[in-house]
Amino acid sequence: MYTGLLHTHSSLRYVVLLLLVIVVAKSMVGLISKKPFEKADEKLTLWLMIATHIQLLVGLFLYFVSPVVKFGSDTMKDSIIRYWTVEHSFLMLIAIVLITLARTSTKKITESNAKHKRVFIMSAIALVLIVLSIAMSGRGIIIPVRA
Ligand code: HEM
Ligand code: HEM
Repeated sequence: MYTGLLHTHSSLRYVVLLLLVIVVAKSMVGLISKKPFEKADEKLTLWLMIATHIQLLVGLFLYFVSPVVKFGSDTMKDSIIRYWTVEHSFLMLIAIVLITLARTSTKKITESNAKHKRVFIMSAIALVLIVLSIAMSGRGIIIPVRA
């Protein structure tokens, strides 16, 4: 159960990261070259959001079974336990909220440039947070490092 969840969560990172990089790049190009916010941009933010929400759900399940998520007097003293119990979920949650808002808060905006701009800023911050957080874990951003 634990191994399956960990591998699912570990693999889903590639889907989230790939879609996020595409969304950041496409919104940046759209903003600079003043392109219309197309159906493809709309679909990309939706896929990114779905992938990210599935990652959130799997992460929540993992949180209850992971041996490195522990609550006790040592939680904050041990850097590995602290990372997985507090830092990882906290930073990732902020990124997930930003990715969700990048889509939901731009739905009512009609002007393409303003839409690209908001999607770009929110997704770019989310990308930095996610890369930073995985880097902090010491498990490798692209290739998983197992202790
Ligand atoms: C712990 C689990 C989850 C939480 C807390 C969560 C939370 C949210 C929130 C806050 C919204 C935004 C509602 C809005 O303002 O429009 C949303 C929308 C959405 N979520 Fe999730 N979600 C979760 C899991 C999932 C899963 C597992 C999927 C898909 C398999 C999913 C797919 C979606 C979709 C498709 C939307 C609407 C996107 C749109 O059309 O803009 N979510 N969710
Ligand atoms: C965009 C969101 C997220 C990404 C990209 C992400 C990425 C990762 C990665 C790369 C790992 C390491 C997997 C490995 O060792 O191969 C991991 C592990 C883990 N994540 Fe996430 N994560 C996200 C969100 C979350 C959230 C929201 C939670 C909790 C609520 C969570 C809880 C965990 C836990 C408990 C582990 C397992 C630690 C272990 O037992 O070794 N993650 N995550």
